[in-house]
Amino acid sequence: MPDPAYVHAAFSAIAERYVTANHILSLGTDIMWRARVVQMVAEWKPASLLDIATGTGDLALAIKRALPEIDVLGTDFCRPMLDVAVRRGLSRVLEADAMNLPLEDASFDAATVAFGLRNMADYGKALREFRRVLKPGGHLLVLDFSMPENIFAAPYRLYLHHVLPRIAGLVTGNSDAYAYLGDSIEAFPRGEAFRQLMLACGFKNPTSLPLCMGIASIYTAEV
Ligand SMILES: C[S@@+](CC[C@H](N)C(=O)[O-])C[C@H]1O[C@@H](n2cnc3c(N)ncnc32)[C@H](O)[C@@H]1O
Repeated sequence: MPDPAYVHAAFSAIAERYVTANHILSLGTDIMWRARVVQMVAEWKPASLLDIATGTGDLALAIKRALPEIDVLGTDFCRPMLDVAVRRGLSRVLEADAMNLPLEDASFDAATVAFGLRNMADYGKALREFRRVLKPGGHLLVLDFSMPENIFAAPYRLYLHHVLPRIAGLVTGNSDAYAYLGDSIEAFPRGEAFRQLMLACGFKNPTSLPLCMGIASIYTAEV
């Protein structure tokens, strides 16, 4: 399980370069994935949405721009990442640990978490906390990297563990954070295992949608 102190220090160190690094390293696919998330959120028509582990606000801002009627709160435990989010126009942010949110029970219609849950020390504890702050009938959406389970798995592993940390080291000056990325993706449950985890944490109707040959997935569930 990821060490919160390490995760906090790693994101503090790369906060200023995170947005650029993301777009370069994913060749812009992260923008497409977030656009897909925005479409799915639009179908639920939530009045309020909590974007957990909002970081520099990429997903929260994409949702706000496309769906300005939604009241979006972005939360993250890393102040330097939130500072970038605020500078980029995310007006409502809250510095908090996602596994212990200082928020009322049943206070949001929807919650999103993009590339964040994988970095948390206890996935089950975090999912139960997300469920607590969602209203009955509320929706959870998790977007994260996943290991492909197809012919693409071997070359992808090579890229993830050997190529990506070197390129990322050049872009961000911190290759360690990206060596950690590969390990965290390997450890994160995918597909059926993740749907079962959501059920075990009290969610209903879990779904999973692999993206780009399975290198990322969108999971949804309801309270
Ligand atoms: C890879 S960034 C993702 C940021 C953003 N959601 C995006 O899509 O670009 C992961 C974020 O998760 C945050 N994070 C990790 N563990 C956390 C925790 N326990 N509580 C709150 N935030 C956490 C980090 O600070 C970091 O900003």
